[in-house]
Amino acid sequence: MLDPRVAAIDARLEGVRRIVAVTGGKGGIGKSVVSSALALASARAGHATGILDLDLTSPSDHVILGFPVGFPAEEFGIDPADHFGIRCMSIAHFAGDAPAPLRGGDVTNALLELLAITRWKELDLLVIDMPPGLGDAALDAMRLLKRAEYLVVAGASRLVLVSVRRTVRLMQEVGVPILGVVENMRRGDDDAVVGLAAQRGLPVLGALPFDDALEDALGDVEALAQTPTVRALGEALLPVLYPSAESRST
Ligand SMILES: Nc1ncnc2c1ncn2[C@@H]1O[C@H](COP(=O)(O)OP(=O)(O)OP(=O)(O)O)[C@@H](O)[C@H]1O
Ligand SMILES: [Mg+2]
Repeated sequence: MLDPRVAAIDARLEGVRRIVAVTGGKGGIGKSVVSSALALASARAGHATGILDLDLTSPSDHVILGFPVGFPAEEFGIDPADHFGIRCMSIAHFAGDAPAPLRGGDVTNALLELLAITRWKELDLLVIDMPPGLGDAALDAMRLLKRAEYLVVAGASRLVLVSVRRTVRLMQEVGVPILGVVENMRRGDDDAVVGLAAQRGLPVLGALPFDDALEDALGDVEALAQTPTVRALGEALLPVLYPSAESRST
């Protein structure tokens, strides 16, 4: 029998104009930093923005953006609390920073539940920090988020390139739309990521340098908004995500 929560998810996301899911083949490549920076840049530009941390085993967006975790307000669903203009939802609301060991069907259940209970209402953009890797959690999230467009975070290390290539191939084989690639922690003029993107027929939408200011700004939205990471990501991605808004202002 079809799980009724699957249909509920579509209804919950009805008022969301654009869903951008941030993914990448490798752990530690910067998915959470890119997700948080994108949500922040979008909110600062005046767009109604939400962020959903779907990394069930190691949620981090609440650490980066500094949103408090604790059981959110509930009434026929759960309202993501507004934090400096970003509506934030994370598995960390329920598990805190304690380990949440989930296996098998529990993973699917946790994802279904989180997506089915959250009331996003009207949003211009919902950023989703995707579960890492290509395990159950990532595959389930891809299946459940029917309208998501994917942003792939990559880096020039050969270790990263191998797993990013694998992830992109899988996504192209199952036919999910990929917006493009963001190179993170770019060093010098290494064009390996550009090469990989070209090989897979994808645009490189932006490149973020290694950002020395990032660590001290974690958890502090005002400081984060001034970092090269958030500025560069906003400049690269907002014109892509909001083309009409940009052309109006120029
Ligand atoms: N552009 C950058 N400059 C400097 N440090 C960065 C940058 N991007 C990410 N980092 C740092 O690299 C580490 C990994 O980043 P992050 O947690 O966003 O990766 P992730 O892909 O979400 O990892 P996971 O797969 O574990 O969820 C963090 O310590 C983060 O602060
Ligand atoms: Mg992460």
